[in-house]
This record gives sequence, C-alpha cells and structure tokens, in this order.
Amino acid sequence: MVENTRQEVRDGDNMNILVLGSGGREHAIVCSLARSPLSETIFVAPGNGGSAPGAVNVVLDMMDGEAVVSFARAHGVGLVVVGPEAPLVAGVADKVRAAGIDCFGPIAAGALIEGSKQFSKDLMFKYQIPTAEYAVFETADAALDYLKRHPAPIVVKADGLAAGKGVTVAETDEQAAQAVSECFAGRFGSAGAKVVIEEYMTGPECSLLAFVDGVHMIPMVEAQDHKRALEGDKGPNTGGMGVYSPVPIVTELEHKEMILLMQKTVDALVSEGIDYKGVLYGGFMLTPTGPRVLEFNARFGDPETQVVLPLLETDLVAVMLACSQGKLNKIDLEWKQDWAVSVVLASAGYPESYEKGKLIRGIEEAEALEAVTVYHAGTHRDANGEVFTNGGRVLNVTALGSTFEAAREQAYRAVDLIDFEGKTYRRDIGERALKGRAAWE
Ligand code: AMP
Ligand code: GLY
Repeated sequence: MVENTRQEVRDGDNMNILVLGSGGREHAIVCSLARSPLSETIFVAPGNGGSAPGAVNVVLDMMDGEAVVSFARAHGVGLVVVGPEAPLVAGVADKVRAAGIDCFGPIAAGALIEGSKQFSKDLMFKYQIPTAEYAVFETADAALDYLKRHPAPIVVKADGLAAGKGVTVAETDEQAAQAVSECFAGRFGSAGAKVVIEEYMTGPECSLLAFVDGVHMIPMVEAQDHKRALEGDKGPNTGGMGVYSPVPIVTELEHKEMILLMQKTVDALVSEGIDYKGVLYGGFMLTPTGPRVLEFNARFGDPETQVVLPLLETDLVAVMLACSQGKLNKIDLEWKQDWAVSVVLASAGYPESYEKGKLIRGIEEAEALEAVTVYHAGTHRDANGEVFTNGGRVLNVTALGSTFEAAREQAYRAVDLIDFEGKTYRRDIGERALKGRAAWE
C-alpha cells in the first residue's frame, strides 16, 4: 500500500490508524478504513503493492508488540488493527491495549481459540457447541493406537498454528497414520507437539464472521471460501482460491443456528473471563444434522474479507472503535443488498513452489469495470509504480452485482483483463452455489 495523497479535506476528529499484515485481507481492510471520514493516515506494516487514499507502507516487525506500541506512540496512532493470527497469538494486542491504545483484535488468551485446536475443541465441548468428536494426543504411539480403533475417513490436525497446512482429511488409514507420524516428526515444528484427531464430517462449508466487543457480538454476512487448488474442489488445500457472499445455499434455519452458536461462543468466552475484542470467525460445516463448527479463527478471513467488507455500508473505523471500547451495542450494521464474488489470481505452482517478480498488466483496466475492485495480496510495487507478483496468491478480483450470476460474470470479465506470466485461477468459483444444495450431495 504505497503512498497516495488524500483528495478530500478532512476535519477535526480524524485519527491515524496502523494496520498489521500484508495480504489481500489487509488491503481490503485498508480500503474500507480509507473510505471512513474518521481516518487520516493509515500506516500499513508491511503492506503490499496495493494502494488506498491516505495509506502508506511502513517497515515494522508486526510480531514485536513493543515496537508496534513505540511506532503507534511516535505517529499519533489512535487505533491498531491486527490482520493475521500470528501477532494476536504472540500477544501484540495485549501490549497495545496495555499502552492505552485502541486495538482491534483479541488478546492472546482469546486468540488461543485459533492458536490451539485443543483449547478451541475443549471450549466447544464444555459449552456444548456442536463440533466433530475429537481426541487429543501427545505421543505418536497413543495417536496411532487410537487410529486402529477409528478407521478412515478421519481428520488429523496439528494443535498449533500451521499456516492452514496442519489439517489432513485422511481418506485411507495409511494417510491418517502418515499424518500423525509427520506431525510428531516435527513437520509443523512446535505446532505439531500435540495432535487432534477428529470425526470426519460432510456438507457444504460456510464462514460466519462476527464483530465482538468483549460482551456483544454482531454477525456479518456469510461467505463461502474455495479452499482446494483445482477446479471441482480437487487438489491440495490452499489459503483460499475464491469466495462469495452471501451464501445462497444456506437455509434460514441454518443461518439462525449459526448466529446462535456464535453468540454461545462469545458467551463461553465471557464465562471463561476472556475479554475478546475483534473478529470471531466461525468456520461451519452444514451437516445433515445442522451446522457444526469446523474451527474458529481470531481474525478476519482471507479471502472472505475481500467479499464481506465491500458489502458493509457502516463506517468500519466506527465499528472497530466500538469493538475496542465495548460499545458495539451502540452500533447497527448496514449491508448492501448486493452479491459479491471474488476470484483469486495465483502464481503457477501455488500452493507448492512458484516464481515471483512477474510484471502484472491490466489492473487499471479491470478496475475500470463497474463494481470491480482488485485487492492486492502477493504483489510489490516498484518506484515507477509498476506492479509485480510477490507471492502465491497475487490478486483478489472482487465484483459486486445485484444478482449472484451478475457478480460472478463481472468478476470473471475483470479476471480476463489482467495478465501476468503464470497467472492461475479457478474458473468455477461459485459454480456449485449456482447449482444449489444438490451439488454437495
Ligand atoms: P480447519 O483449518 O480446521 O478449518 O480445516 C481445514 C479444512 O479441512 C476445512 O475447511 C475442511 O474442509 C476440512 N476439515 C477440517 N475438519 C474437518 C472435519 N472434522 N471433517 C471434514 N473435513 C474437515
Ligand atoms: N479463508 C480461510 C481463513 O481465513 O482461515
């Protein structure tokens, strides 16, 4: 997010904001914050090649809470927004809050809901929040012994943060045993010191994110990610290849049930004495017996944010401050009645190895289309303003439309205008949703 001069004249109450992170999610957050009359300069650490009015990239170690506080103090920052999970789990929000600065993102005790699968599963068990049956193991022998009594399909998860790669949905007993062995052999470092083995569930997945202020919560619109690398939901899991919002296949009953489960989880955190402020991300599976939780995350989803925030009409700065200050009950969220579809453009080879440094053309042409925004993820902008690939997931091409089909068609029209060597994407984002619920059966 390179420097850009603000066009509008701003009045008294504006504040400087610091956003931590470098993905498409953070670019979408920055774009929404930049639309607020409350924001002045938005510092992004480290940011990427994307830009927004008033946003400037800065060099700062986002894992170092003291450094974040020093920067915030030196630059008159009134709100720190933590994008990814790692700084939250490392306690950066604790430091910012302790310094008396508003922070959007939970303290470490709250971020454990993502940072430890065991913590999250135990919390759900204690408060009767429906999820897959599970068992936790600290040795390979005990886990392998359990697998003998629980045949595939079964799911093996590293307990700690593994950048989305710690989950194996094992279709055979051999795959399950291999996943257990690899975890304990150190494939995910200390994140794999414990292993959670889970019952295999079936159904469409749906993400429901909620703003939380320690006590109150307000749900956002639902979104559905496409985690697999290849069309037809095949190939390895990725960080997400495309997403849409809202989710047309969700029934009214499921919608209500998911909101109830999110509220139950916020109440559980309150009962545990955890002052949770930020986003609670519920990853649900819509099983034949109703929605069950796959996982919780302690942050905005990526790429869910790239479709959810463009639909939010309410001032994001005001919402984030209300979360930080425990005043969410004073806010009503308003949403556009549109549909949003976002297609991820990735580098050839992703999620395995890929090349960087390829010139990207056509972003401006794509953004000239009506209702299209191109969020940058793995990009770098050079001194001449040219943009190059700099990661696996490169761009998120988001389009809004008054119907699901219109949003989808517009997103792909924009995708076709962008070009770089190795450009890879799925042509079938949203295709299953168009076919309806039967496409999951
Ligand atoms: P997680 O990071 O825990 O959400 O897991 C990543 C992906 O693995 C999920 O989005 C699901 O597609 C799949 N998955 C996780 N847990 C289960 C489960 N218990 N049953 C079936 N699939 C699962
Ligand atoms: N889209 C999945 C995640 O943010 O974890």
